[in-house]
Amino acid sequence: TKDELEARVREVKEKLGNKLYIPGHHYQKDEVIQFADSTGDSLKLAQLSAENQDAEHIVFCGVHFMAETADILTKKDQKVYLPDMRAGCSMADMADIYQTERAWSKLVQMFGETILPLTYVNSTAAIKSFVGEHGGATVTSSNAEKMVRWAFEQKERLLFLPDQHLGRNTAFNIGIRLDEMAIWNPLKDELEFEGLIENVKVILWKGHCSVHENFTVENIRQVRETYPEMKIIVHPECRREVVGLSDLAGSTNYIIEAINASSPGSAWAIGTEMNLVKRIIQQHPDKQIISLNPHMCPCLTMNRIDLPHLVWCLDSIDQGEGHNVIEVDEVVAENARKALNRMLEQS
Ligand code: 13P
Ligand code: SF4
Repeated sequence: TKDELEARVREVKEKLGNKLYIPGHHYQKDEVIQFADSTGDSLKLAQLSAENQDAEHIVFCGVHFMAETADILTKKDQKVYLPDMRAGCSMADMADIYQTERAWSKLVQMFGETILPLTYVNSTAAIKSFVGEHGGATVTSSNAEKMVRWAFEQKERLLFLPDQHLGRNTAFNIGIRLDEMAIWNPLKDELEFEGLIENVKVILWKGHCSVHENFTVENIRQVRETYPEMKIIVHPECRREVVGLSDLAGSTNYIIEAINASSPGSAWAIGTEMNLVKRIIQQHPDKQIISLNPHMCPCLTMNRIDLPHLVWCLDSIDQGEGHNVIEVDEVVAENARKALNRMLEQS
């Protein structure tokens, strides 16, 4: 039963004490997040992993790329586990290392040595490694602007993987025009751009988050019509038009903090993953809060981490077996760490 599963988590947590650390991303289910030692957005969870020197077992409640990042940033004798190996990220899956290498060689032919690669942390360790090896860095939704500015201090142009929307929204915010942004299509291995290619400043990888692409201009129009007083806050993985018509945009932490800081009685429509929106609604009974899209689904891969998988993983650690260890090859990890550290130094 649920009670038995919860009791088992408590038992293992008590038994292992500081040897066990459970970070949880804000999109995790309540049944899991209640047991997290820390919760956070991608940046905070990466920083906490880098700082934690004590835990022997890090059971990452999030998705695969987050657990890989934790493994890259922790010491060799610290083990990172993902309670369900099927907890991937459809956006991270939109860029593989072979596509990236092919793209890079074509882009270098077109633009010479004028490009720097930046990758959203929502990408494989192999891509982070490629980016680190080529002088670039990772970014998260809470430091993307700072990192894009940093990239332009190094080179004239940048390749932004794999989320076109975060890339476009961020570049737009620092004054890059939409007609200075091209799209790299990894399925065709070609650049989509109408105009003089000398004018290209940002090359956006044609990837997206299937959860955040569901928020539309029509959703915004309906909220504005039905609740004219309501503020609209969205994640920058939403399309440019949606972000442009919203009042505020930022990472999951940014969204949480904006609503925490708002006064009782204020009204919000939130454009991000459903588990987080539901939790925010529960935590603020004094505010009127809705999802920007009433038919919103949760992130299905984040949801693969549930209480039974958490218990199964903890059981295996308790019994000395330790299933679902995430171990990034050290050759890959070395360059990926460079990309992550360039970001952590700026954050
Ligand atoms: P943040 O928590 O960093 O905003 O990331 C959102 C997300 O989609 C993670 O997969
Ligand atoms: Fe990936 Fe989107 Fe799910 Fe985040 S919300 S893990 S970007 S699919």
